[in-house]
Amino acid sequence: MITTSSSTEKEDITTKEKELPDKITQEQSLPKEGGVDRALRPQSFDDYIGQKKMKKNLRIFIEAAKKRDEAIDHVIFYGPAGLGKTTIANIIAKEMGVAIKTTSGPAIERIGDLGSILTNLQDGDILFIDEIHRLNKSVEEILYPAMEDHKLDIVVGKGPSAHTLQLDLPQFTLVGATTKLGALSNPLRDRFGAIHRLEFYEQNDITEILKRSAVLLDCSLEDDGAQELSRASRQTPRVANRLLKRARDFADVHNRGSIDSAVAREALALLDIDDLGLEPTDRRIIETLIDKFNGGPVGLHTLAMATSEEMQTIEDVYEPYLVQLGLLLRSPRGRIATDLAYEHLGRPKNSPAKKLFL
Ligand SMILES: Nc1ncnc2c1ncn2[C@@H]1O[C@H](COP(=O)(O)OP(=O)(O)OP(=O)(O)O)[C@@H](O)[C@H]1O
Ligand SMILES: [Mg+2]
Repeated sequence: MITTSSSTEKEDITTKEKELPDKITQEQSLPKEGGVDRALRPQSFDDYIGQKKMKKNLRIFIEAAKKRDEAIDHVIFYGPAGLGKTTIANIIAKEMGVAIKTTSGPAIERIGDLGSILTNLQDGDILFIDEIHRLNKSVEEILYPAMEDHKLDIVVGKGPSAHTLQLDLPQFTLVGATTKLGALSNPLRDRFGAIHRLEFYEQNDITEILKRSAVLLDCSLEDDGAQELSRASRQTPRVANRLLKRARDFADVHNRGSIDSAVAREALALLDIDDLGLEPTDRRIIETLIDKFNGGPVGLHTLAMATSEEMQTIEDVYEPYLVQLGLLLRSPRGRIATDLAYEHLGRPKNSPAKKLFL
């Protein structure tokens, strides 16, 4: 039954959701893949480069479940965009030899949508919910008994005659992915048996990913070209693949044969990507912080307005890498540009703020 307290919470969530942009802009800023990219997606643990600790744990997790002939425990992956959450979810299904049904938090609008997905699963199947932090509260509450006891509670009727029907569900595994673990409610987070954080990739892992992709794309990539591209790849496989394709375009158009460091550098310069892998928007964010707000602290909302970017895009797409590089700090009072950021942009520290906004 839906209690009074949960309906109050529901209102809170609805209000919060209204403040969010209709669609996540992440996809626009970091374009997702078409056909070619699907071919680049690793299909097994062996193809999945890096994230060694997570892979080791997952192998044990899967092996144990297989031995006991059980479905694996519910698992959640979190970390910045493009690090391989969707990829690893699909690999788990392959390694377990089970079917995977994919959906996403914002796609499940009503309780009935989730009900029909759950009742159509088979024993052992994986239900993959991407952007799980964006599930609406009433849908999320249906997930609790489904995850814990494999039961689906449905409220039939309205008002005083309303009653709850309980259906048995198959032994499914929920695999969740999110860029924001903190936005998940505690009851939902607690129902996952394993929580894995995806780390930014080491440079030699990115180099290996680039080399693997070059083989699949049938383009010739020299060692120094791979090094050059991997430095600019934001320690992120999706970005690495994208840069490789742009470098390949450049090499093809200019009849340069293989991608060596010179070709890679020219292609990166054309894309306006600097030696730290910063794109124009990254630079605009730290430039705005320094030039308009004297280095901060400044609230995300203000920073978004001043840079004409969506708050969510800044938070999900740009900030994680800027924080990882030590160029930006998130503090309770707002975002701050670090000394390194001043240095990278060649700005003297304590330069007077431009009086544009202040
Ligand atoms: N460990 C890896 N080894 C090789 N390639 C990888 C690896 N992880 C990811 N990739 C490549 O990067 C692309 C992006 O990965 P994926 O879509 O899984 O990221 P994601 O974390 O789900 O991103 P988002 O948060 O935007 O959904 C994949 O298509 C794949 O080609
Ligand atoms: Mg994904």
